[in-house]
Amino acid sequence: MNPAISVQNVDMVFPAPGGAITALQDVSFDIAEAEFVSLIGPSGCGKSTALRLIADIHQPTGGSVTVAGQSPGQSRIQHLVNLMFQEPVLLPWLNIYQNVSLSIEITKAKDHRDPAELLSFVGLKGREKDYPGQLSGGMQQRVALARALATNPRILLMDEPFAALDEFTRDRMGNWLLSIWERSRKTVVFVTHSIPEALYLSDRVLIMDANPGRIRADVRVELPRPRDESMREEISFFEQLKAIRSQMPKSLYVEEELNGG
Ligand SMILES: Nc1ncnc2c1ncn2[C@@H]1O[C@H](COP(=O)(O)OP(=O)(O)OP(=O)(O)O)[C@@H](O)[C@H]1O
Ligand SMILES: [Mg+2]
Repeated sequence: MNPAISVQNVDMVFPAPGGAITALQDVSFDIAEAEFVSLIGPSGCGKSTALRLIADIHQPTGGSVTVAGQSPGQSRIQHLVNLMFQEPVLLPWLNIYQNVSLSIEITKAKDHRDPAELLSFVGLKGREKDYPGQLSGGMQQRVALARALATNPRILLMDEPFAALDEFTRDRMGNWLLSIWERSRKTVVFVTHSIPEALYLSDRVLIMDANPGRIRADVRVELPRPRDESMREEISFFEQLKAIRSQMPKSLYVEEELNGG
């Protein structure tokens, strides 16, 4: 079976007034169908760029990207992929039911899901007629998640989707996401700056480095599924946290370097 996503020897060079920027250099990874993979690394290491290449927003300047065994462009046309951002980006003049429905209307996705069912799925049953301004940040982000699922994509790309939320809400959103992922078995690529979040959610964590952006380590997470909150307190969780931290580029730990640590 084809991997859901295959990135092979990808270079991404952006022209810039001060000289070209190499956002990604010789980046290779495969992601299997229904796998949950996190990308983690310092600001500017090319995490968002990698998602944009998979979503067909950019085309690589070298190497190749395939999505479901075909080009990212073909996969985009077939609505196989959806990208979710840090901010929910909802339309304030539409209620949340209409916000979710709109993506189905725009894409004309044939294999779409029922917006009411999705809003119930993300715990917003009874709030369909509310406007985004009437909801908390976490609720708005759940609407964005429902919208991302509305066109029934096989692959969900999430760019720091919970970064703007407080830690408690972020943990709850992570549990939401896992319960949805366990039921729907989508392929998820999840960008985060939080090592515990990456560990708790993922099957694999790809650690990246900057200047130029590249993959530094590919770590398989050894935690059973389904996951629950108690795992965050287990020794194996802390051990793996430590293992990932030890492989993170030093540029993330400026204070430690200053302190001679
Ligand atoms: N459209 C663009 N044009 C020019 N340069 C770009 C463009 N998009 C990204 N870059 C550059 O590519 C590099 C990687 O950017 P990217 O947004 O992928 O980083 P990131 O890992 O997502 O960072 P962050 O954690 O801050 O979101 C940066 O140096 C950025 O300035
Ligand atoms: Mg980014």
